[in-house]
Amino acid sequence: MCGIMGYTGYEQASPIILEGLSRLEYRGYDSAGLAVQAPVKTTEPPPLQVAKACGRLQALIDKTRGGADLPGSCGIGHTRWATHGIPSKENAHPHISEDGCIAVVHNGIIENHYDLRRELIAEGVEFRSQTDTEVIVHLLSKACSNAPESEKASIIGSVLTRLKGAYALGILFADEPDIIYAVRRDSPLIIGCINNGKQQISGIMASDIPALLPLTRQVFYPEDGHIIKLTTQGISFYAYNNDTHTVTNVTKSYGDPVTLTLSENAARLGHYKHFMRKEIEEAPQAVKRTLESGLTDPDNPFFTDGALLASVQNIRMIACGSAYHACLVGKAAIESLCRVPVEVEIASEFRYREPVIPHPSHTLTVLVSQSGETADTVAALRLCKSMGIPTLGIVNVQGSTLAGEADHVFYTPAGPEIAVATTKAYCAQVAAMYLLALQLGRAKKVLSADEQEKLIRELTSVPEKMEQLISLESDLCRLSQELASARHIFFIGRGMDHALSMEGSLKLKEVSYIHAEAYAAGELKHGTISLIQDGTPVVALVTQPHLLHKTLSNVAEVKARGAYVICLTTAENILREGGLALSDVADRVIPLPATHPCFTPLIASVPLQLLAYHVSVARTLDPDKPRNLAKSVTVE
Ligand code: M6R
Repeated sequence: MCGIMGYTGYEQASPIILEGLSRLEYRGYDSAGLAVQAPVKTTEPPPLQVAKACGRLQALIDKTRGGADLPGSCGIGHTRWATHGIPSKENAHPHISEDGCIAVVHNGIIENHYDLRRELIAEGVEFRSQTDTEVIVHLLSKACSNAPESEKASIIGSVLTRLKGAYALGILFADEPDIIYAVRRDSPLIIGCINNGKQQISGIMASDIPALLPLTRQVFYPEDGHIIKLTTQGISFYAYNNDTHTVTNVTKSYGDPVTLTLSENAARLGHYKHFMRKEIEEAPQAVKRTLESGLTDPDNPFFTDGALLASVQNIRMIACGSAYHACLVGKAAIESLCRVPVEVEIASEFRYREPVIPHPSHTLTVLVSQSGETADTVAALRLCKSMGIPTLGIVNVQGSTLAGEADHVFYTPAGPEIAVATTKAYCAQVAAMYLLALQLGRAKKVLSADEQEKLIRELTSVPEKMEQLISLESDLCRLSQELASARHIFFIGRGMDHALSMEGSLKLKEVSYIHAEAYAAGELKHGTISLIQDGTPVVALVTQPHLLHKTLSNVAEVKARGAYVICLTTAENILREGGLALSDVADRVIPLPATHPCFTPLIASVPLQLLAYHVSVARTLDPDKPRNLAKSVTVE
């Protein structure tokens, strides 16, 4: 959940690292720090230069005068999302050995850190922070003094054998100038490489691609457990052998770096005030690309492999947060269009409940994740694989853990998503669900070629309809002023609308801090309706023709108890024909363009996302970095 970045090369490292961290700040933003090797002027290596600051990265930038106070061309940095210990200068990374000669930045969790801490304290080590990370730096320091002549890669390897949990690490040693060591286990890490052709190599390590984009498009995705040595002569990869306590150079097995095709602007704010707003506007294109990719791209064979899809008898979908909500839409679409049973589960529940899967080899498990690094979703994937269940990962981030480990992968080409609250990636996930439904329906002969073609035609018109809705922004902005002072907001709907109301409610609460709850409209009167009083805002989703009158009855029930009803609907025409004006039942109506009922969640998600964004702005909050949250949840 933290962001780590390192650079060794021919430029000043600090400004480069600070810029990289600013592109990773969505991963954590409660404190930040830097460690840089001072330029060597004597034979004695000078201790590492370190700066830390509490709060947003800007505090560190100000404190170090944009990095000018820490000169040198090799360093590591970190932006933190607190797991162990409050956000404070002491707990901020990098963590430094007692002699000031080793620095470590860490993303992840060391699960056995209490045991290691106890052991180290008994040996006389004094801890300065409450973090799990600090044990690593002390273990390294001890290993170095026990075997001073050993290669550092092998020292690091021996320390890794003591650690349990997930980590991506950047390590600096004062006595190894211009070298960074990096390592990952179950946490994301990307290695970038700049080769300027004059045998001058610069190496970069970062938690995510946006940090690398201004510097290079040439990257490596290191394997779990490998130790990477970044130097100004080249990048080497090592595997550690636990039995012989030696390292083997495995650089050859990596071959050439992968070339990224993303533009630098993909992760830039441009003229927008916030990434969230920019990414909402990018959602229609993200959906369009997802549909093109699934329907025509030969590199994405999963959705066109009829034989594979025909063998699927039931589906289990597993995810967290908004990705879980995308799965709920998928369940409704697949069950309605293909009559194939679908179970949807929250990854953190699935992995610990000793699941019973009746026909493992005929159960397709679909794991959905924007980041591809969510700890619980990755663990659920591994559990499914261990049970012999075929897995499909629907993932946005190229080269992520989930993408690497699932049997089949479908990439949602939404591009980098920087705002913590997902918008365009959620829409792309929903689009992927529809692809699965349509291709599955065809493969299982539940949909005829004609029906499938008609649905595909309708689906490909959805991005344009989403774009039309962005033009409603000024109305939504006015509405958000009215909602900004609410204490509680309810979202209601039935069927697909209920799945979407869960996403609408999550979006609003995460960026506005207003308590929001989603309810199946028909369930309200079994308890929750007692919370409705004069003026309580209720957002009603009314897009499913076969449920129209049922939902409207529920709307009338809350209205009768004083609720202020905002209705998002595709059904204005139907109602008008029946002699009923929506204004009779709702205080505010947001009309949605008509489409096939299965596809309305995509269309309706645009106004819901815009509403959440504008309520956040109206409350003078930062929608891109909501308190307590991080983009990529790599801890369970
Ligand atoms: O990267 P993932 O899609 O696996 O992330 C899952 C959730 O953490 C994520 O959707 C979260 O709920 C977002 N903050 C929602 O906007």
